[in-house]
Amino acid sequence: EKGGFDHFMLKEIFEQPNVVKNTLMPRLPLDQDEILLDNIKLTQSDIEKFKQIYIVACGTASYTGLVGKYLIERVSRVPVISEIASEFRYREPILDENTLMIVVSQSGETADTLAALRMAKKAGAHVIGIVNAVGSTIAREANDVLYTWAGPEIAVASTKAYSAQLCAMYLISIKIAMELGKIDTNAFKALREELYALPDKIESILKQSHKIKALADQYKSSKNIFYIGRGLDYAVSMEGALKLKEIAYLHAEPYAAGELKHGPIALIEDSSLLVGLVGQEELFDKTVSNIKEVKARGAKVLAIALEGNEAIEKTADEVIYVPRTHWYLTSILLNIPQQIFAYYIAVGLGHDVDKPRNLAKSVTVE
Ligand code: F6R
Repeated sequence: EKGGFDHFMLKEIFEQPNVVKNTLMPRLPLDQDEILLDNIKLTQSDIEKFKQIYIVACGTASYTGLVGKYLIERVSRVPVISEIASEFRYREPILDENTLMIVVSQSGETADTLAALRMAKKAGAHVIGIVNAVGSTIAREANDVLYTWAGPEIAVASTKAYSAQLCAMYLISIKIAMELGKIDTNAFKALREELYALPDKIESILKQSHKIKALADQYKSSKNIFYIGRGLDYAVSMEGALKLKEIAYLHAEPYAAGELKHGPIALIEDSSLLVGLVGQEELFDKTVSNIKEVKARGAKVLAIALEGNEAIEKTADEVIYVPRTHWYLTSILLNIPQQIFAYYIAVGLGHDVDKPRNLAKSVTVE
């Protein structure tokens, strides 16, 4: 049932090229210059009406929300609040009929996410669910659903479901931008071509898993691991740190690269590891200078960078490269090495990767 893999988690990591195809291709016909979002009925005038968008979720799914916020605000220029469901529901957020809420959930049963959805609907907001489990409560109660078609995810730590959520978020955010006139047909075609190229690019990262395993063995005894990045890379760093905490039980924290010097840099010592994400071309120099500050205080540096940015080798001790893509889509590729790295660290430390301690696959308590 594990298809020859040692764990479900590794099997699910390797399923990602196919999962991404399943999520994207049916919505991106090559003979039409538009995105087909299943039965989502939102028209151009509905979308123009939204003054504010909330993206609400828990854990890994909430990091899809942060990616969505950066993409939608940068391109569509609509204000987006990306928030954790357990906070959102208790702070009296401003919701009305001009609000779009996107909830993201693999299981479709997470109690806090469901409660947030119900609050929004009660206030007259329109709710789109990005959901993996077909027929789940969130899928039934949302006004519209975009299924991620990742298939059942058995490992507790989310991998393929997260990649599928990112793909769904790319589709919805591009659709919003097109309806608002912010992405024209040529720009759409360029993005579609890159979306179609993602499965092969993911495949090429999976081929590096031996190298990533060796890095995991090298760094598995690190105390204090910091994941840093700016912009979209910061969103990705959150997922990297969470994977390491939940399956390897290592203390890992994500920080916005520019925030380190405001306190956390005091924690850096010789036994620290810094995972530096440098996927944002226009922020490359800024992040590299933050990496240098940490290295100067004794930390080891593992960078995850885009092919062609070999300049990073002057600063980092080790580098994992991912293929280049449209800036809009970098997040999904940068995350794959983080999954493999966390997996092999957990295996190397002898932990039960598929069933980490204290965790359940679906969190239906508040
Ligand atoms: C982490 C993980 C959790 C879930 C979170 C939300 O690997 O799996 O953080 O992402 O509990 O679950 P869903 O997506 O089912 O709402």
